[in-house]
Amino acid sequence: MRKKEMEERRERRIIMFPLPLTGHLNPMIELAGIFHHRGFSVTILHTSFNSPDPSRHPRFTFRTIHHNKEGEEQDPLSQQEVRAMDLFALIRVMKQSYAEPFQVGVPRVVLRTTSVASVCAFAAFPLLREKGYLPIQDYTLDDPVIELPPLKVKDLPVIETKDPEELYRIMKDMVEGAKSSSGVIWNTFEDLERLQLIDLSRNFQVPFFPIGPFHKYSEDLPSTKNNKEDYAITDWLDKQEPKSVVYASFGSLAAIEEKEFLEIAWGLRNSEQPFLWVVRPGLVRGVEWLPCGFMENIGQKGKIVKWANQLEVLAHPSLGAFWTHCGWNSTLESICEGIPMICTPCFTDQRVSARYIVRCMASWDNVGTK
Ligand code: UDX
Repeated sequence: MRKKEMEERRERRIIMFPLPLTGHLNPMIELAGIFHHRGFSVTILHTSFNSPDPSRHPRFTFRTIHHNKEGEEQDPLSQQEVRAMDLFALIRVMKQSYAEPFQVGVPRVVLRTTSVASVCAFAAFPLLREKGYLPIQDYTLDDPVIELPPLKVKDLPVIETKDPEELYRIMKDMVEGAKSSSGVIWNTFEDLERLQLIDLSRNFQVPFFPIGPFHKYSEDLPSTKNNKEDYAITDWLDKQEPKSVVYASFGSLAAIEEKEFLEIAWGLRNSEQPFLWVVRPGLVRGVEWLPCGFMENIGQKGKIVKWANQLEVLAHPSLGAFWTHCGWNSTLESICEGIPMICTPCFTDQRVSARYIVRCMASWDNVGTK
């Protein structure tokens, strides 16, 4: 791009406002890097809850937006009732307290951080209710959803809640919000989701920009190697055989039961492969304990950490497989490094992604055996 054109663009500012959760913040920071590289000035508005670290991204302007409703002094996101896992409470607070300043009439483009396939399913909720797929009945779990192949009923991206009507409302708002925008940016690419993009764009009728995977085009990556634990992980990976390590990680939000946690522990041990397992605080609902002597038994063969620089881990030559919850960022990051996935989806869009991953892998196997 010519210098003059670049200078003109710097005068144009893009303002970004992410949902304050890692799975949304990460791709938005990456996208901000793409915009900046193309010459735009970028401001990231954020809540004080889960705020990004401005010192890591000196090229962007960061502004905290404070909640300032009359009579309420405390930032609602800091209140006890809002837990990161309580998506509904989080979205409710975001809408009640932060929506107003955004009704200012500037052109609005939506960033969707999930797959297009999952948004196809969200957008089909009214039809799925009409046809009786929703609310889900246990005896239908393995039935195909004829309208959304290859999904089965158990893959539909619902969130367990006492108030399903609220879920339907949130999904309707999300779809309507995108339809009334100036366009939708997707962290995906055409070769991966061509048919879904064609299908959904007919229904949405606004321009679509499938310009992902962002982390491959951006100079601004959310996590950089900067602590002792990251170096220790790389040291450990360096000592393993090529393509031998099973990396197990379930993203930033998912919570599993104690029973599942133990099954994963035994699965990793019994695989007899070296493994790197991210057990972040909050991963286990209940008590996070490993059987007596588990780690001693494993010795150097297994490593358990609280967090890892996932992009670096997946790119390491010793990586052989990724045991994932199929969060969309994790899925894209794994595809980009060509790492086969073991899928244990936990909630919402992860189930949709898991179905597509399994279907893709099955078709590769068929190609291999023909
Ligand atoms: C959730 C949804 O699962 C996801 O589908 C949606 O698009 C956004 O919200 P999350 O569950 O956190 O996100 O999973 P994922 O989308 O995989 O994002 C996790 C991010 O954290 C990835 O970018 C991953 O690289 C990073 N991560 C995760 C680490 O850097 N280290 C870790 O130890 C775990």
